[in-house]
Amino acid sequence: MQAENKKINATITAVGMYVPDKILDNKYFESIVDTTDEWIVSRTGIKERRIIENGASSDMAAFAIKDLLSTTNIKPEEIDVIIVATVTPDMFFPATACLVQEKIGAKNAWGFDLSAACSGFLFALQTGAALIQSGAYKKVIVVGSDKMSSITDYTDRNNCILFGDAASAVLLEPTSDLRYGIKDSLLFCDGSGKDVLHMKAGGSLYPATKETVEKRWHYIYQEGKTVFKAAVKGMADVSYEIMKKNGLKPEDVAYLVPHQANLRIIDATAERMGISRDKVMINIDKYGNTTAATIPLCLTEYYRNGKVKKGDNLILAAFGAGYTWGSIYLTWSID
Ligand code: COA
Repeated sequence: MQAENKKINATITAVGMYVPDKILDNKYFESIVDTTDEWIVSRTGIKERRIIENGASSDMAAFAIKDLLSTTNIKPEEIDVIIVATVTPDMFFPATACLVQEKIGAKNAWGFDLSAACSGFLFALQTGAALIQSGAYKKVIVVGSDKMSSITDYTDRNNCILFGDAASAVLLEPTSDLRYGIKDSLLFCDGSGKDVLHMKAGGSLYPATKETVEKRWHYIYQEGKTVFKAAVKGMADVSYEIMKKNGLKPEDVAYLVPHQANLRIIDATAERMGISRDKVMINIDKYGNTTAATIPLCLTEYYRNGKVKKGDNLILAAFGAGYTWGSIYLTWSID
């Protein structure tokens, strides 16, 4: 059901971000677990990550959306839909989207949370684009917000060095200029990945008990090496496939915008696509893995630094818990 049967694309028309002030650098981790700055940088590419001291995912999402709106003439009450990609909702219910709606004063919006871990932003972006393309909605906010510090076990050296807190948002609007906007997506999930990357307790399978707390089941559990191999294959294959499907050569792609989990996974993806490092958006060194926030955070920073131009073809790619993975091909439309 497209408006007047006229084809429209959904396109990103504004971006915004929030990162907390408090920085945890690798030296800090040397002081709390058995690790070194050299190990962390060489194995992951991470130097620092940000931690929010007061507040939750809804606060970070609201800050990011306010930042986005401050760059536009759009009032909060004009927003139709808010989709919050997160694995760290403030609470199970109400949805974080409801809390964000109130915090930003989007009094005419509806919204919901979307749980797809590190692929959350891509899944939410595709969902938001479909709502726009249906013709039913004109302004959809897609925000990735994760307070990973709330589920990180700071005694587990394998995982605690990886994660940080952040939020970042995009605004989707319709365009009838089909040279721009979201053009294709390849998205997947495979629940057989559940055993190697999860947070086991707190849901209906293992409600919180003294035992689940003692077993540390309310923290991220990850078998890094297994996930690493799956991520390299998943992200590289799907990024290559979307290029092939759309007849894109490496020179047609301005940037790969990869989920920021590990610099080595990012490099492997770029290599498979035939894309050089200077055409890959990278900020993992500053923020670590902020789960649903990494991709819009890259988009916002690179756009604000003048590195993304109208007409640039971007390939967004992610891999995460579930497993979930995928890629989105879009052409940037903001001047
Ligand atoms: N400091 C020092 N040594 C550490 C360490 C740390 N912080 N964390 C782990 N090690 C040790 C391990 O114990 C292991 O020691 P061992 O060989 O004596 O057992 C050694 O370093 C090598 O571990 P390995 O698992 O081979 O490292 P790796 O190259 O796979 O890197 C990760 C570990 C976690 C960085 C990497 O596996 C990874 O990034 N995984 C995927 C993350 C991801 O993409 N998640 C999906 C989205 S959330």
